[in-house]
Parts: sequence; structure tokens; C-alpha cells
Amino acid sequence: MKVCVVGTGYVGLTTGVSLAFLGHEVTCVDLDQAKVDMLRAGKCPIYEPGMEDLLAEASPNLTFTTSYADAIPGSDVVFVAVQTPSAADGSPDLRYLRSAAESVAHSLDHDFTVVVNKSTVPIGSGNWVDAILRDSFATREDRPAGVEFAVASNPEFLREGNAIADTLFPDRIVIGSDNPRSLEVLNRLYRPIINQTFTAPTFLSRPEDTTAVPLVSTDLASAELIKYAANAFLALKISYANEIGQLASKVGADITEVARGMGLDQRIGSRFLQPGVGWGGSCFGKDTKALIATAAEYNLDMPIVTAARDVNQRQRAIAVEKLQNELRILKGRKIGLLGLAFKPNTDDLRDAPALDIANSLLSRGARVKLHDPIAGERFRKEQPELAPYLTGSLDELFADCDAVVLVTEWAQYLELDWSKFVGLMRNPLVLDGRHVLDGDRMRRLGYKYVAVAG
Ligand code: UDX
Repeated sequence: MKVCVVGTGYVGLTTGVSLAFLGHEVTCVDLDQAKVDMLRAGKCPIYEPGMEDLLAEASPNLTFTTSYADAIPGSDVVFVAVQTPSAADGSPDLRYLRSAAESVAHSLDHDFTVVVNKSTVPIGSGNWVDAILRDSFATREDRPAGVEFAVASNPEFLREGNAIADTLFPDRIVIGSDNPRSLEVLNRLYRPIINQTFTAPTFLSRPEDTTAVPLVSTDLASAELIKYAANAFLALKISYANEIGQLASKVGADITEVARGMGLDQRIGSRFLQPGVGWGGSCFGKDTKALIATAAEYNLDMPIVTAARDVNQRQRAIAVEKLQNELRILKGRKIGLLGLAFKPNTDDLRDAPALDIANSLLSRGARVKLHDPIAGERFRKEQPELAPYLTGSLDELFADCDAVVLVTEWAQYLELDWSKFVGLMRNPLVLDGRHVLDGDRMRRLGYKYVAVAG
């Protein structure tokens, strides 16, 4: 099928490259010429393991352009995946989405095109995009006859750092539209994934239990709500583990054991019960906030989702409090943060717990040193005020340090030869922000080991 993807950010690029890999003819359009040039040269503008390999494998079916007029005509499906940054009041800024929808409408020429809204936007935005498309199309003097289009929702559940595997081997595919023909088109588009009939890319192996992928084919509003409800549930699962973790530390229980014991109950499941400094990233914070805002439009409050957000924020504050409890005085202390990205295997710094923790320590007069194996370059650009505290050297970070906080559980830190660094510290305190280090081992090596929760 012929597919166009508008926007080559995280979601757009993963969608475009994966669909091209599956054999669809894909054109990705982005107004940023530099990005398009990079992608044409086979280089990936985002950090995502495997993406350049998949780009190479998919290249015969993949084109990049800055022109809507080249990309849209003839498309069976147009994915709109442009950025929706938060406006000053916290609501998503839909300016780019509006102008993308207008541009799409100006080039539609096919007998039937499904326009899929992939940007993270509030529930109900499908209708809003539909209205923009119809208004813009109606104002076209050159509008061809016999052109039909409909809007659909096809939420993605991909995790950064795992984007390709999550796209090719998903737990489920959700498609929603109030137009049955759209559902049929998207069902066809995704058939290779639903039936798992493709040969896995050379760098990935198909998970053993993936035979067929369930399809949830539903109405527009339900598909839009599934995305938010699922993300908010994952967010609150983590916050629940963190809330229990605080109680565990009071009663002398080990939260890691408690979470393991809970997670083995299949009704609960073991994933997303990992306690620590809490969640960050582009989705959980934004999606929980948007869900609460949508509910408010209907005079509904969302006490559980609200509590999940509060607990998450509290975890970041607790990390600083624990340091204060141990060191008594933070002023003048040197504290090293290991890991800046909101999670490992990405250089994404959006809503990263490390940012709040670093700022809070600085505001209390502490001196900080910051390290990340991958996100440093991006950090320098996006966080100019914190950039002077960045170091590329672990020796420099540990030297004369009063405490080190493991904020992001990068493999590099888990595999670190911790025995080499203990002697460099003035006070060998390690605060484990992710509950991933072996506390007994750390103590044997001479560290004082403290975990954020439990
Ligand atoms: C998330 C959703 O998982 C994905 O389905 C959605 O489409 C986009 O948002 P992502 O933000 O990439 O994906 O990361 P994810 O792996 O879900 O982690 C989110 C945050 O939760 C990270 O900060 C991670 O460190 C934290 N986390 C995760 C925990 O604190 N504990 C856990 O047990 C799991």
C-alpha cells in the first residue's frame, strides 16, 4: 500500500521505517531540510538502537521529502505525527498539527485516504482534525472530484529504546474510526504484523510467544481513550510500587521482594512495579495531565490518576530528602548524578527525574556533577543552565564526592567496577534511585548503600 508519514520525530520515523520494512511504499515528509538530508544519507536523527539498520533494510521502499505535494497524492494512508509541545498553560500546542492537517488537505487526490492522527493529542482530537481537513479541502479551488477521506486513531505503545521491537512485535494493535472503510484499510496495512508473516529484521529476533497479534478495531473515541487509559495505568502501577516502597522502608520490608511477590500474581504482573525515582519521559507526565484535563471538561475529577502524579513527584523530592538525612547538610557537598536520560537506551531528557533532582540539590547549595553515557550532547543543548555541571569522566564525578545517586539504570553503571571508585569519594554514600544495585555487595565494597524507596 502507499503510505505517507508527516513528521519524522520519534513516532513518525519508527512508523514510516517499520511500514517500509514490511513492504509498503512509504514517503516521509518533514519540513526540516537538514533532517531530510540526514535520513536520505541513511543517518538517523534520533538515538534509537537498531533504527539505522532498519533504515538500511527498508531503504528500497522509503523516500524522504520536504514537499507535501510530492508525498500525499495517491496515499492510501497518511499518518500525521508532528510534535505537540506543551503550551505555557500545560495544554498541548496544536499549531503544528493544524498546519499539517491543512497541508494534507491541500494535496489529497486519492479516491479514499485514511488520515491517522499519531501525534499525542487530547481525546476528541480526531474530530478536530477531521473538521480541519474538511474545511481546508472545501476551500481548495483545485479540489478533485471523487476524493474521500476519513480520520482514524491508531495509538502507538512503543517505548523509546525499544521502538522497533514494540512496533513489529506489539502486544496488540488498536485502530479506531467511525468510518468502517478506514478500519478495513488499516486492517490491511497491518496484516503482516497481525499475522506475523514477515521475516524479522536481521538484528532482531521474534519473541517466541509472538504468533498472531490481537487487533482491537473500534470507534474513534474508544481508541483515543485506550491510549490514555493504558499509559495512565502503567504510570499509576509504578507510583503504587513507590507508595508501597515508602511504607516498606518504615516497617523494615524490602520493596524489591515485595514487588516480586506481588508481580508473580498473574493478575498483577511483574512489569512496571520497579520502584525508584519514578517515571519521566514524554508520555506518562503529559498523558496523565491530559486525561485529568479532559475529565475536567466533563466536570469529572480523576483522583487515582492525580494521586499517581503526586506520588511520582514526591519520589524525586524523597531522593533529595534521603541525601539530606544522610549528609545532614547539603550546602557545599559534592553530589554526583549517574544518568540524565529519563530511562536507559535513550537520550531523551523530557521530564527526566535527574533534572528535578539536580535543580533541587543546587537550590539547596550543593555542588553537583552530572554524567550520562549517551545523553550528554543533547543535555548540553537543551539544559544550558545545567550544562556546566556535566562531565564525561567518572573519575571526575567520583573524586571527593559526598554522595553518588544512580538516577538512570544504564547497563554501563550496573556493570561498573565500583571497587575502583570507592576510594575516590570523600564520603562513599550511594543512593540507588532505581533499586538495581546489590546493596550487600556495595556494602562489602565499602559503600554506604541507601535506596530511594524501601
Ligand atoms: C511509555 C509507554 O510504555 C509506551 O507504551 C507509550 O506509548 C509511551 O510511553 P516510554 O516513555 O518510552 O514509553 O518509557 P517506559 O519504558 O514506559 O518508561 C517510562 C518511565 O517509567 C521511565 O522513566 C522508567 O524509568 C519508569 N519506570 C518504568 C519505572 O520507574 N518503573 C518501572 O517499573 C517501569
